[in-house]
Amino acid sequence: MEIRLVRPADRDAWLSLWNRYCADQGVGIPPEISDTIWQRIENSETMTKALVAVYPGGQTLALLNYIVHPHTWSDRLLCFVVDLYVDDSWRRRGIAEAMMAHLADHGRREGWLSLYWNADKSNKGARALYDKIARLSPYLSYFVDL
Ligand SMILES: CC(C)(COP(=O)(O)OP(=O)(O)OC[C@H]1O[C@@H](n2cnc3c(N)ncnc32)[C@H](O)[C@@H]1OP(=O)(O)O)[C@@H](O)C(=O)NCCC(=O)NCCS
Repeated sequence: MEIRLVRPADRDAWLSLWNRYCADQGVGIPPEISDTIWQRIENSETMTKALVAVYPGGQTLALLNYIVHPHTWSDRLLCFVVDLYVDDSWRRRGIAEAMMAHLADHGRREGWLSLYWNADKSNKGARALYDKIARLSPYLSYFVDL
């Protein structure tokens, strides 16, 4: 299995995983918004990026979308892991853990300060993974919808 940044030819495979991820998360993202997100990912000038895990022979098994951004507590960049999804027939084979490790290795080489992300309290599977690879933040997330 290869873990790498997406390429333009990955669009359909990324979109297929993305649509299944959105359905799994119960969020209805209109197709034109998904198109815009893909265009940002495809544009190397933006800080919105995506990794895919690809099986030899071409099947795309998983995606991880992330955004790199500055912070005020450090001159180093932070990486917000926004979306992580593994095709349901490929779960519990270490793919998500390997993608997070790949991103962490990349971030260390780039000099980022840390990776961080949100998790739904009720998502026991994802939380079991996160408890294995990260420390739980003492902070709560607050939102003002605009
Ligand atoms: C959460 C998700 C990304 C995990 O992907 P995965 O490739 O199956 O995870 P891994 O195989 O790398 O798991 C590594 C370890 O995490 C833990 N883990 C992962 N999924 C688990 C589950 N469903 N139940 C219990 N532990 C789990 C285990 O310790 C596992 O190691 P083990 O299989 O040797 O016991 C995947 O289930 C998924 O795509 N879920 C739907 C989307 C989602 O919820 N994304 C996260 C949003 S916050």
